[in-house]
Amino acid sequence: MRTSVPLSLIRQIALAAAPGAVSLAVGEPSHAVPEPVRRAIVDAVNRGELGYTPNAGRTDLRRALGARRPEHGGDEHSSIVTVGSQEALALVVFGLVEAGGEVLIPDIGYPAYDTLPRLAGAVPVRTPLDAVESAVTARTRMLIVGSPGNPTGEVLSGERFAALAALAEERGFWLVSDEVYEELWLDAPPQYPAGKRVLHVGGISKSLALTGLRLGWLVAPTEVIAQLQGLHQNLVTCAPSLAQVAALAGFAMPAAELETVRDGYRRRWATMRSALAAIRDVRWREPDGAFYCLADFRARTADSTALAFDLARRGEVLMVPGEAFGPDGKGWLRLTFASTEDAIREGVARLAAALS
Ligand SMILES: Cc1ncc(COP(=O)(O)O)c(C=O)c1O
Repeated sequence: MRTSVPLSLIRQIALAAAPGAVSLAVGEPSHAVPEPVRRAIVDAVNRGELGYTPNAGRTDLRRALGARRPEHGGDEHSSIVTVGSQEALALVVFGLVEAGGEVLIPDIGYPAYDTLPRLAGAVPVRTPLDAVESAVTARTRMLIVGSPGNPTGEVLSGERFAALAALAEERGFWLVSDEVYEELWLDAPPQYPAGKRVLHVGGISKSLALTGLRLGWLVAPTEVIAQLQGLHQNLVTCAPSLAQVAALAGFAMPAAELETVRDGYRRRWATMRSALAAIRDVRWREPDGAFYCLADFRARTADSTALAFDLARRGEVLMVPGEAFGPDGKGWLRLTFASTEDAIREGVARLAAALS
């Protein structure tokens, strides 16, 4: 039998939940799908545009993706439209890393950065992002970095990201830039590196609140795209056609639509922040983007994972144990402010009551 991996702690918490629990766990946006995007989807349904698309995606969408990240030629040959950014992550790991190859991942990061290499027979190697250079070996094939990051909400500076791209080129590994939270920044937009060794992964799940339509992409050198197309075609045939319509409409809509979305998350973060501040001896990392707060509960509990499962089973509040994101997350909890303001207020109040 091939390697298997256990269900993520995020899903385990959701499965453990008793009725009535308020969810601050899953990164599921609660903002409304922007009106121009909703209208485009309905119009496409009414026109009966529900068939297969070309395997690698609609040409107009592939062109739009190339234009957004022009360093690999800027045309339709530099992208594949995928089933969520998750498929794009899977394609690069399964398609570009051989068994035994090493994939560098952040010490605290999105769980799939660890599980995808394992499933592919490769070796995930955790490293703090400021010590990447010393983690590179002759077997290093890839570094995966998300900005804004999940679960930290950290936005990497343009200079730091560019230095990683330069290191990737010098040492001959791929830098996978996970940009799925690109549009969800609080103070300043993220800056992404450009370079021969940079592979851009993105999607519409978070920015357009369309997690269920499953639409993402990969922008990469044309020879990488050509190499990965066979894997993509055999796995999924093509990304959902309606989701591709939604992505095109999202790119075409006025910028003010996304500013409204960001304002909503700024308000939700302010609500969560003031509720957390009322809990004694709890600290957190200030997020720069995405919709997560990684908070340190080590001064209040010996075991934050046990606390999270206990509150889930009692039907109080769902949060993700920091351990879901790497051993260094022990003692921390990830709370999402993707939820509604009412859920945020109620959920943090229940957490505070449980700790008092
Ligand atoms: C950092 C990160 N990358 C990728 C994904 C996958 O998202 P999707 O496949 O919906 O685009 C997620 C989902 O939560 C995520 O947090």
